This record gives sequence, C-alpha cells and structure tokens, in this order.
Amino acid sequence: MTHGTIRIGPSILAADFTRLGEQIAEAEAAGADYLHVDVMDGRFVPNISIGLPVLEAVRSVTSLPIDVHLMIVEPQRWVEPFVRAGADVLTVHVEACTHLDRTLHAIAEAGAEASVTLNPGTPLVTLEEILPLVRQVLVMSVNPGYGGQSLIPTSFRKIQRLRAMLHDQNPSCRIQIDGGVNASNLASVVAAGADTIVAGTAIYNRDRSVAEAMALLRGALDQ
Ligand code: DX5
Ligand code: ZN
Repeated sequence: MTHGTIRIGPSILAADFTRLGEQIAEAEAAGADYLHVDVMDGRFVPNISIGLPVLEAVRSVTSLPIDVHLMIVEPQRWVEPFVRAGADVLTVHVEACTHLDRTLHAIAEAGAEASVTLNPGTPLVTLEEILPLVRQVLVMSVNPGYGGQSLIPTSFRKIQRLRAMLHDQNPSCRIQIDGGVNASNLASVVAAGADTIVAGTAIYNRDRSVAEAMALLRGALDQ
C-alpha cells in the first residue's frame, strides 16, 4: 500500500540542541515535509522547552514549513509573536482557550494556518463547533509535556471518529498525530486516518542517523 500524501515532520524537541542547525539540515536532506516545534510553558504542561528566539533561529536556517505546537496557557496572547517569528501552522490546545473561535480566527488573520489540538482525555465533541475554521486537527496520542512516551492506544479510535466528523464539515482538513509514533505503529496510525505525522525520538535518537530513521518510517508506510 502506498500513501503518497502522508507528511512526516520531525519534532526538534528530540534533537541535539547543541547542533540544532545540523539536525535540521539532516531532516531536510532526509525528506522531512515540515518541522514540528514544541513550545511548553511549565504551566499548561509540566515542562518548559523553547520559545520565540529558538523559533526565529530555526526559521532562519530552513525553508521547510514550520508547525508550532503551543502547549501554553493563554495562547491567544502569543499568536502574533509566533506567526511573526516564523510559524506557518500554529496549533493551540482547546483546553487552554476560553474563546477558541476567536483565537482560531486570530491565527488566520495573522497569516498562519489555524490548527487545534486536544489532550488524550479531552473528548472530540469539544471541537464540533469550530471544525470548519481549521486546516489541521492534532490528536495528541500522549499526554503532552515530554518526548519519548508510548502512544495511547485509544488514539486510533479517536482518529477514526474525527475523520468521520470531518467528512461532513471540513473534508480537506489534515489530521495530525503527535506522541509515540514509530515505525511499528505508523501504518496503523495512517490506516486510522492520520495524514500528518509528528515523530520526535523515532527520528532523533542514538540508534540510527536521521536519514536512516526517516527511511525506516517511509518504509513502514509501504508495507
Ligand atoms: C509531546 C510533544 C511531542 C513530542 C513527540 O508533548 O508535543 O511533539 O516531541 O515526541 P515523540 O515522538 O518522541 O513522542
Ligand atoms: Zn508536539
């Protein structure tokens, strides 16, 4: 089975930050479709990662689309700065948005693609009213905050149900999955309906080069 339209984006959270530029170049050379940048504030999630200066630096060394995942409280305050710093796609958590409709409009007005995400424990029904406003829905397949966790199996069914919801309301909307995706579960994730993949430790790890890791993931799609 071939999946021509599946996009794979490395999460730089798992990269070696002492040589981030090289790690991005390796991903680009290996055929990454976009880059995923995880922003954590130590409040929405129990960890702090990176912010605007690093995003600006990433933007300056790549022409790949940059997909920014905001794991922060009050994301509406940060829409314009993150789009200005280089986000092509900006994802906000439904749990962090009191006025989700307004925030998604603000992302589009700032010039990025609006994307929304929800934690594993948050039901899809929380997205029902805003599905026509987004270009992408991210299904979190781990509780956000850390790389290297295992994919929560209920995510498959959630993706299937989301695909059915989008069929009526927004059929061209992408379904992204983030957390614990690897070469062993990628085919199942795609069969469930995801078309946009985030992979952190599956791409940046000590076992193989970025090129080998990307080839392994692409190979898993062809089986
Ligand atoms: C988790 C982050 C993910 C993480 C994925 O909170 O949102 O993007 O970097 O890493 P892996 O693929 O290792 O689970
Ligand atoms: Zn992420």
